[in-house]
Amino acid sequence: MRTSRRRFRDYQSTLRERHGDPTSSRHAAAKQLESSRQRSIRRLLIEFFGLLRGHRAPIVFSLATLTVATLLKLAPPAATKVAIDYALTDQPLPTTGWWSYLPGLDRWTLLVWLAGGVLAVSLLETMIHLWGRWYATKTVQRVRVAMRRRVFDHVLHLPLHRVYQLKSGGLASMLREDAASVADLIFNMLYNPWSAVIQLLGSLIVLAYVDWRLLVGCLVLLPMIFITHRAWIGRIRPLYRDIHRQRQDIDGQATETFGGMRVVRAFGRQRSESNRFVTNNDFMARQELYAWWWARAVAMVWEVLMPIASAALLLYGGSLILRGELTLGDLTMFLFYLAMLLGPLAVLATSATQFQSGLAGMERMLDLLAESREMPASPEAVTLRLPEVQGRIVFRNVSFRYPASQTPVLRNINLDVKPGQTIALVGRSGAGKTTLCNLVARFYDPTEGALELDGRDLRTIQVDSYRRLLGVVEQDVFLFDGTVAENIGYAVRNASREAIEDAARVAHAHEFIHQLEQGYDTVIGERGVRLSGGQRQRLAIARAVLADPRILILDEATSNLDSESERLIQNSLSRLMRGRTCFVIAHRLSTIVHADQIVVLEDGQILETGTHVELLRRGGRYHEMVELQVNAGHLPVKV
Ligand SMILES: Nc1ncnc2c1ncn2[C@@H]1O[C@H](COP(=O)(O)OP(=O)(O)OP(=O)(O)O)[C@@H](O)[C@H]1O
Ligand SMILES: [Mg+2]
Repeated sequence: MRTSRRRFRDYQSTLRERHGDPTSSRHAAAKQLESSRQRSIRRLLIEFFGLLRGHRAPIVFSLATLTVATLLKLAPPAATKVAIDYALTDQPLPTTGWWSYLPGLDRWTLLVWLAGGVLAVSLLETMIHLWGRWYATKTVQRVRVAMRRRVFDHVLHLPLHRVYQLKSGGLASMLREDAASVADLIFNMLYNPWSAVIQLLGSLIVLAYVDWRLLVGCLVLLPMIFITHRAWIGRIRPLYRDIHRQRQDIDGQATETFGGMRVVRAFGRQRSESNRFVTNNDFMARQELYAWWWARAVAMVWEVLMPIASAALLLYGGSLILRGELTLGDLTMFLFYLAMLLGPLAVLATSATQFQSGLAGMERMLDLLAESREMPASPEAVTLRLPEVQGRIVFRNVSFRYPASQTPVLRNINLDVKPGQTIALVGRSGAGKTTLCNLVARFYDPTEGALELDGRDLRTIQVDSYRRLLGVVEQDVFLFDGTVAENIGYAVRNASREAIEDAARVAHAHEFIHQLEQGYDTVIGERGVRLSGGQRQRLAIARAVLADPRILILDEATSNLDSESERLIQNSLSRLMRGRTCFVIAHRLSTIVHADQIVVLEDGQILETGTHVELLRRGGRYHEMVELQVNAGHLPVKV
């Protein structure tokens, strides 16, 4: 807990600095990851209404019903005045104005009528209010879904390294909290303040009608809203922003901990994970309490002002009655309306602090939506048509470094892969084999040089249409929590059961799937936890087989299999690879002897290329590797 206290003290001093000097270096450093542009409230409002496009009609409707309901709410206090002045005391009903249209009523009848009227109006008000609120609630849910979908779709298209930076748990947190906060703003920023404003204006009008001097006294309070806003509320949003960000971090870490549960247990780190979680939460709690104080300060001003205003009015109004200038009913009504006037003012002031949290969430969402998507399609980018694709891949002077890293991972790669050829990539761990395949899969674009498909720069091809050509079996197999059949059929929409089983047969997965309790309908758990490493690999191969790709990437696709299964799969794989451009990475040389070209990578550069026989004859690095494996007894083929 001590660390979180210290962290919080640091945080407070950053806040102070931030407030004094917005460009301070510490602030800039803390916000480096996040493109945090502080938007003005006006800008935010414009963005908000922009986001509501398509939902405006029901919102306007619910605001209209709210207006009617609020106006109806203004009627009962007037009835109180009539009751006090004409039914409970001995005054005769006035004979001027609209009173003259009423038949002469005795006091009892008048009282009953008034009570009935109040009841009827209140019921009507409640019904209309409920109706409008139902619409508003429905709209809020719709907007929430729409916003989440928008954020989700956007994240699906963000560059990979950004997704990794934001972490899966952090993104889930943003989806849940920040995207939803836009919808909640409908209540906090539109619905509740709107009702407050109507009530405010309505009661002001009535008050002015009764006695304008009293009104002037009330109007003095109005600048208070402005002052509280300037002094405090503007400071609250950045606090909420930080809180949301902290929550995103906490969620991200928690998700990561659960994902790595086996490592956590294997190394007995439950305690320290738990401590980290608690410290972070403790820090967030401190942030929230701090924000609470700012919000509370606003509310407190109002809580002090209200009794002062009421007391002053009582004094002034009472003196008017004593001098016979005001009736008792007038004053009672006045006090009622005063409450109706001050109530909304307090609502406006406090809801202003509430919606700062929502605005902070919206701001974060806007930041995320403003981030550019991966490989944005230029207008002249072409969409590939499968039958026209040959599958020739050419690397022209390609160099590459990962985003946010300085060291080049690939340097000056030149490679010409003819349609249907198989390229084997070999080299030490960390040589850049997976990275090269990442470029082929267009997970990243090269930093220098270009990749070409059939003579066309990949960057001029619409990325989705290009990826449809691919089948990838990655080094770290990823499976979704679903059934075996769903996982194999992931790449192909509505794949038939026969097609799935055929693909599984090619990958030699059919046998083991058959032995699972529910066969193809067995649920395999998150990331396929219920399968062995080799089984997972075979499912991944089946998935790639079913996709029927033009370009196939096999990154250590069979590394987890025993030699026997590997040999079996190898046979079907070589059948599969026929007619497709293939990139194969394998440490076991037996799997790559038959490749059309073998590329030896070292430190991100191509050391040598050639066929197995050519490279052996050359007696270079490849020759060394083969010798090592033969001596270790790994190579079943005679070379
Ligand atoms: N996302 C990343 N961001 C930054 N650097 C990375 C990233 N992925 C890999 N690297 C770096 O790129 C280099 C090449 O990695 P790569 O995964 O291509 O190696 P590899 O040849 O596939 O190795 P292995 O045989 O162990 O799979 C490594 O030094 C690694 O540190
Ligand atoms: Mg690799």
